[in-house]
Amino acid sequence: MTYPIVLSSIQVEPILAAKQKGLSSVEVSPDLGISRVNAVITSTGVSFASGEHLDWQQIEKIKQAQTNCFSVEDGTIKTISLFSEHTNRVCSLLPTRHAPSMLIAGFTMHRIVNTDPMQDTLKKVATIAPITGRVLDTATGLGYTAIEAAKTAEQVVTIELDPGAQYIARLNPWSRGLFDNPKITQVMGDAFEVVQTFEDESFTHILHDPPVLSLAGELYGGVFYSQLLRVLKRGGRLFHYIGDLNSKSSGTVARGVVRRLQEAGFTRIVRRPEAFGVVAYK
Ligand SMILES: C[S@@+](CC[C@H](N)C(=O)[O-])C[C@H]1O[C@@H](n2cnc3c(N)ncnc32)[C@H](O)[C@@H]1O
Repeated sequence: MTYPIVLSSIQVEPILAAKQKGLSSVEVSPDLGISRVNAVITSTGVSFASGEHLDWQQIEKIKQAQTNCFSVEDGTIKTISLFSEHTNRVCSLLPTRHAPSMLIAGFTMHRIVNTDPMQDTLKKVATIAPITGRVLDTATGLGYTAIEAAKTAEQVVTIELDPGAQYIARLNPWSRGLFDNPKITQVMGDAFEVVQTFEDESFTHILHDPPVLSLAGELYGGVFYSQLLRVLKRGGRLFHYIGDLNSKSSGTVARGVVRRLQEAGFTRIVRRPEAFGVVAYK
């Protein structure tokens, strides 16, 4: 399987540095930092072994766009971003010095301040480790929690509302496991409705990583929590991402979440500030 080259301003830094030093080749990552290849520097631009050639104007455009990633195909560069007709929200891939995040309507879908989306993912998943059995991931996003859970789980069912978000994930080199790991089943739809269709006690673990409350209020409500409890096996655990529990706004949201989880019937709820969320037990 060959994938298109995906670059951000971070990957073109060494290309421009090599040009300035007058070098004839440079090591560059064609997939946002996952792997490295050698590319040839010419007077007109940079050539990859795959046959792609980018001119200096294109490289400069990528360098200037600090908040976008670009796919390279047939000599053209395309911003990884789109307006989702389904949700009327703009989705885009946001570069970081590690795995990228996704922006939806201007909100980042992972923590990126003093951390990176992969550390964020590992912290979330660690709160309910060891992850075994059948796992429900309520909000796919870039698929990082699903991919991480699938390393030890038997099966992961992951739900995404927005085809726009799925489009972005498809172009993200760090999301490939979402599309090629047979343990992961993707369901397109509203988690609020999709979860109602699952059988009682059919999941051992639930990862609930919704967008901010203002984008997905129903996913923070008692009706939804009752459904999560219903589909969770006895002894099962739910991780619910909320936000920085020590901040005023997320602290307030967290108090409401804990109360509604208790009202829904979860037996014990434990604050996990390091993962910006809580774990609820059935
Ligand atoms: C914070 S991100 C999830 C990040 C994900 N855990 C990851 O590892 O990349 C939230 C995702 O939920 C999706 N979403 C929003 N409302 C939803 C809903 N009602 N049902 C399912 N997914 C929803 C958004 O489109 C977004 O992709």
